[in-house]
Amino acid sequence: MSTKSKLLALLNENLNTYISGQEIGDKLGLSRNAIWKAANALKEQGYNIKSFPKKGYRLMEFTDIISEDMIKSNAEFPCQVHVYDAVDSTNNMAKEIRDCTVPQILVAEEQTSGRGRLGRTFFSPAGKGLYMTMAFKPDFGLDEAMLVTATVALSVCNAIQEVTGLNPKIKWVNDIYLGDKKICGILTEAESSFETGAIEKIIVGIGINCFKGSFPKELSETAGYLENPLKPFTRNDLAVAIFNNFFERINNFNKVLTIREYKAKSFILGEPILIFNPAIARALGRTEDRLKEGIRARAIDIDENGGLVVEYMEGIKMRTMETLTTGEITIRKV
Ligand code: BTN
Repeated sequence: MSTKSKLLALLNENLNTYISGQEIGDKLGLSRNAIWKAANALKEQGYNIKSFPKKGYRLMEFTDIISEDMIKSNAEFPCQVHVYDAVDSTNNMAKEIRDCTVPQILVAEEQTSGRGRLGRTFFSPAGKGLYMTMAFKPDFGLDEAMLVTATVALSVCNAIQEVTGLNPKIKWVNDIYLGDKKICGILTEAESSFETGAIEKIIVGIGINCFKGSFPKELSETAGYLENPLKPFTRNDLAVAIFNNFFERINNFNKVLTIREYKAKSFILGEPILIFNPAIARALGRTEDRLKEGIRARAIDIDENGGLVVEYMEGIKMRTMETLTTGEITIRKV
């Protein structure tokens, strides 16, 4: 962690109270001069820090400003960081970046056309969430590429746990839940070379609802945010924890461990679910007018490629098992 990040975390923990230079120095192992420099740099970035001789330093209000410098200085792997006030979508911005040999991290305060899976929109109001994309040139094969979304989901869960003390779970394949509310969605996209067929760029978009705000009506029942974190956190902390955790996993990729961990974090295994997919509904013998209704099934397992093994609980395939791959499928816990 950079000196600035350490100081900010300590000031955020002791919001509105003075902490003496001596105490900060003892806690963080920093010289008075290093603390003074870090506090000034934070002030320049917009943090409302007061300092008084003999009293020490005090952060006047919880401040969470997305900062290129904070992310970059705490990243454990080489990267380039881009921070935006408002963009249509950080995934769209990542598509514009030609060279992703060094992983690119894009974070925006707000997205005006945030995108979700299956052409849906992702609600991305200013200052309330972490809207982040990691784009990189993979040096691995299809086996690992198939499990990128699962790996990101694990990284997001671990990062949230590390930074907030909360314990989120995964709903296959790309949603993260806290209790019965969705707090995060992941949108993985890829660009491949027309000539070689090889994947040139993987674009992983992560949207996390961080702070309380009002959701539009259609999301108000299902969406949540990182409510009551056990420790105060900033979106910079979260972004860098996700990046570090993800590249640690990618650089030491282990398929068996990834699936094992993914299963342990999944909250639908063994549970009744509804599957939404017209083609499956048709294959189960549904009439045309009922193709959009949920299909009753039970989530049995995650297979070695990250597919969801389900047992149908209705239709002509009743009691038979099938493995679903990500495609155009949506599932919901009953
Ligand atoms: C989903 O829930 O279906 C996926 C949502 C993914 C949202 C993130 S926010 C950052 C990145 N930019 C986007 O436009 N989408 C992803």
